[in-house]
Amino acid sequence: MPRTALHADLIRRPRRLRRTPALRTLARETRWNPGGLVAPLFVRPGRGVREPIASLPGQIRCSPDELLREVDRLRRCGIGAVLLFGIPETKFPDGREAYAESGIVQEAVRGLRRLHPGLVIITDVCLCAYSDHGHCGLVRDGEIDNDSTLDLLGRTAVSHAAAGADIVAPSAMMDGQVGAIREALDTAGFPEVAIMGYSAKYASAFYGPFRDAADSAPQFGDRRSYQMDPPNVREALREIALDIEQGADIVMVKPALCYLDVIRAAREATTVPLAAYWVSGEYAMVKAAAAAGWLDERRAVFEVLGAIRRAGADLIITYAAADAARWMAASAADAEAALDRSGG
Ligand code: PBG
Repeated sequence: MPRTALHADLIRRPRRLRRTPALRTLARETRWNPGGLVAPLFVRPGRGVREPIASLPGQIRCSPDELLREVDRLRRCGIGAVLLFGIPETKFPDGREAYAESGIVQEAVRGLRRLHPGLVIITDVCLCAYSDHGHCGLVRDGEIDNDSTLDLLGRTAVSHAAAGADIVAPSAMMDGQVGAIREALDTAGFPEVAIMGYSAKYASAFYGPFRDAADSAPQFGDRRSYQMDPPNVREALREIALDIEQGADIVMVKPALCYLDVIRAAREATTVPLAAYWVSGEYAMVKAAAAAGWLDERRAVFEVLGAIRRAGADLIITYAAADAARWMAASAADAEAALDRSGG
């Protein structure tokens, strides 16, 4: 029988590989692994403290003892690492609690390290949550002074390393911060501690809920003289190249969801591991819409995480880490149960 043009076209039927869940799993291009997820955690002084964060439903500010419990839970779901942010008792112009041996992050890291020797601990290195003016660097004559900040970032990183951090993550967007921290770590005897640079960090409106959580909103002006201008992409590649030259072991694009093109460009331009931070405001949008019943949270979270992975990120820093890891385990269990039922 002669084939019609229609039949000839329909030799190619992409739907064949979409027919069943098992076929879709087999043909999937991007796969899930909780080991690539990093959970941000907020730690504050005290005991037995678990404070909900209104703008980040499901996230808490907790004291070091409660942090141990949170991390227990996260480890059981197989997530790859935690990223710690500290909220100090008192803020000073020079952010001195950021680099104090008795600082909140230092205390939390020592506790975690004792209980979880194998846990990957990443610490955020910045001054904004520790300074009374809320800027990421020292203020001189109303400007954020780059070079005098470098020394304090170096001291902060060394104090985190001494407490037991595996990776320090400078997020202040000061020029030369990765190099200054590398030198400080090496001089202090921590050549094995890695640096994850917040290399391409944009001056984004989507940090709003985080600044609530960390009480770190700038008290005057904004962060546009040091964080990147959102319309730029070539500049991100330049920042990333500079961080790698200065010794960054992992580079980052932040935020993630609004900057998928930057993630893709970064992936193509570099060979080092690439992190992407699905930030507080981007996450809060999904949570708020889900709470209103406007979308299915689980599907939306997987779609976003999938988009970030597809764009080229190796690891994803996300407030959904625990949920996503649990959902991944649950869908693996569902798949097994289905196999059992089918006698396979
Ligand atoms: C500190 C820092 C910020 C975030 C991570 N580290 C806030 C900022 O730059 O204002 C934002 C994270 C988020 O929004 O989830 N410099």
